This record gives sequence, C-alpha cells and structure tokens, in this order.
Amino acid sequence: MATVAEAQAALARLRERSDGVPLSVESTAALLGVPEAVVTNALDHGKWGWQIQLAILETERRRVAEARKIIGIYNIELTNYCNLKCSYCPQPTMGRAKGHMSEVILALCLEHSLKRRIGSALIINNFGEPLLHPELEARLRQIAAAGIDIEINSNGVLLEKKLPVLLSIPCRVELALSVHQWVQQGPDAYFAALKGWQERVAGTNVTIRQASNASEKMFFFHAWSKGAPQAWDPSLYCEFLWDNRCTVLWNGDLASCCIDCDGESVFGSITDPAGMRSRPWRGCETCDYRHAPPEGR
Ligand SMILES: C[S@@+](CC[C@H](N)C(=O)[O-])C[C@H]1O[C@@H](n2cnc3c(N)ncnc32)[C@H](O)[C@@H]1O
Ligand code: SF4
Ligand code: SF4
Repeated sequence: MATVAEAQAALARLRERSDGVPLSVESTAALLGVPEAVVTNALDHGKWGWQIQLAILETERRRVAEARKIIGIYNIELTNYCNLKCSYCPQPTMGRAKGHMSEVILALCLEHSLKRRIGSALIINNFGEPLLHPELEARLRQIAAAGIDIEINSNGVLLEKKLPVLLSIPCRVELALSVHQWVQQGPDAYFAALKGWQERVAGTNVTIRQASNASEKMFFFHAWSKGAPQAWDPSLYCEFLWDNRCTVLWNGDLASCCIDCDGESVFGSITDPAGMRSRPWRGCETCDYRHAPPEGR
C-alpha cells in the first residue's frame, strides 16, 4: 500500500491537465472508479482511506502500462559528425555511417514525441556535436514550432558563432556545456568560463548549465558500457528498458540506449515505430548505469 504522501502525489499527477486546472472531482472519481464522496473526503477532509489509495495505484499502474506501449524518445541524434576527438569518447572510432538528421526524419520524431512526451524538452544530441548541423537554425525552429523545448549537450567549440541562432529560437533552449576544452586546465577554469557564458545569456530564452560529469573538485568519465561484465539483475533500474525509451539516430534508426555508439542495439525505425520495444543489448551486461529504482517505481 502506498503512503498517504505517495497517494497524494499520484492523485495530483492523475488530475494534471495541460491548462493547469486540475481535473474536477467528478471526473477524478469517474477516472478512479470510486464514488465522488471518496475523492472529496481525501481532497477536502484529508481522509485518505484504503479505497482511494488502491484505486489510485491501480489507475496509475494501468496508465503507465498503456503509455509504455508507445516507445518514448529519450534523445535524438541531430548529427553524428564531430569537431573534436575526445580520448574518453567512442565517437571518433564509431563504425556507423555519418550523417545529419533531415527535416523529414525530425518531423517524424516530433510527431511521435507528441504522442508520448518524456519531459517538456527534447534532447537533441547523441554521439556528435549538435551545433555542427548545417541547417541548425531550421531544425531548431522546427522543434520550437511543435511546441517542444530544446536541450543540448555541446562541446562549446561553436558556441560563440552559434549563440545568435540559439537566442533567436522561439522556445526555451538549455545547453549543458561539456568540459572537454577545460580537461587540462581543470574545474576552476571550466567553472569560470561557464560563469562567463551564464552572465551573457542571463534573461534570455537560453540557459547554459554545467555538464553532469563536472563537480567543483573534478571531472568524472564513465566507460561507455565497456566495464567488467556483471550478472544481469532484472531488479536494477534502467529507464530505457523499464520505461520503453529509445534514442533516434540521425537516419531514423531506433537504438535501445544512448550509450550505444555503434548502433548495435538498433531494433526499428522512426518511420514505423508502432509496437516497438527497447530491449537489452550486448552492452547491458557491462553497463554501470543500472541502479536501484527510485522510490515509487
Ligand atoms: C557524447 S557527447 C555528445 C555531445 C557533444 N559532442 C558534447 O561533447 O557535449 C554527450 C555527453 O557525453 C559526455 N561524455 C563524453 N564522454 C564521456 C565519458 N567518458 N564520461 C562521461 N561523460 C562523457 C560529454 O561530455 C557530453 O556531455
Ligand atoms: S564527447 Fe562530444 S565532442 Fe568529444 S568526441 Fe564525443 S561527441 Fe565529440
Ligand atoms: S546499456 Fe545500460 S543504460 Fe543502456 S539499455 Fe543497457 S542497461 Fe540501460
């Protein structure tokens, strides 16, 4: 049985609507299959009895199972060309063909993302440097026109040149600045440069944040699923496998995971995503990304 706090949070999720006004008590009761009084008792009088908690849990379970039938796009690969050769990244020795995502493939990704959203923004990088796309402005405008915000991991080499483009896109653009240019100088130099960029974009549609592998003391580098093999433990959580998510490569191929540089895990195409499911691939056995599921999963 869920705790009252979990039930409250789950009910808030179930009642969420895009206009910000929660679903009415009447519709909530119909959705949960309980009398209206049970919902009123919980919402107005704080009486979170077993009946509403069970109904919420069951409704959430069905809703999540239904949503997971549609493959969710975790990120897209706008391009797999790159202007750096970082020693700790497999991009420079990638065996796949190189290319830039076309307008048509991006349109299919956007159409599909609207069927099943993961967050409010689309992550547009995989292996490669997204700011290198030759039609960057047109592709970013295409995403904004679909009502989707943009998240980018960038090595920052082209940031000075492309910043005016990012500033002109009519949506929120969040760029995580990778540490590559500062690996030799260390975190102090990186954070000083980051601060400079953040001051430049303050108050605009663009935010520039630190890379997830940077801390004040050091930079962290993982092994791209090339560590020691581990026994497969299905109780460990991986959002790609549990939540049926994928990466869309530049040519529209669906890969099971964003740490699969060579596309070994490709299982379908965005041109026909119906019924597709992400599934473990060779790299899962050596992956250190799997961890205990967050509470409530
Ligand atoms: C593969 S890159 C692609 C986007 C862009 N080229 C860049 O470097 O930001 C995506 C992210 O992976 C990070 N990355 C690359 N190799 C890494 C490693 N061995 N450990 C941790 N992060 C890594 C990059 O810093 C970047 O934030
Ligand atoms: S980490 Fe990014 S910039 Fe470095 S080689 Fe890989 S894709 Fe290119
Ligand atoms: S390699 Fe790791 S992150 Fe990727 S699908 Fe397998 S378990 Fe998940």
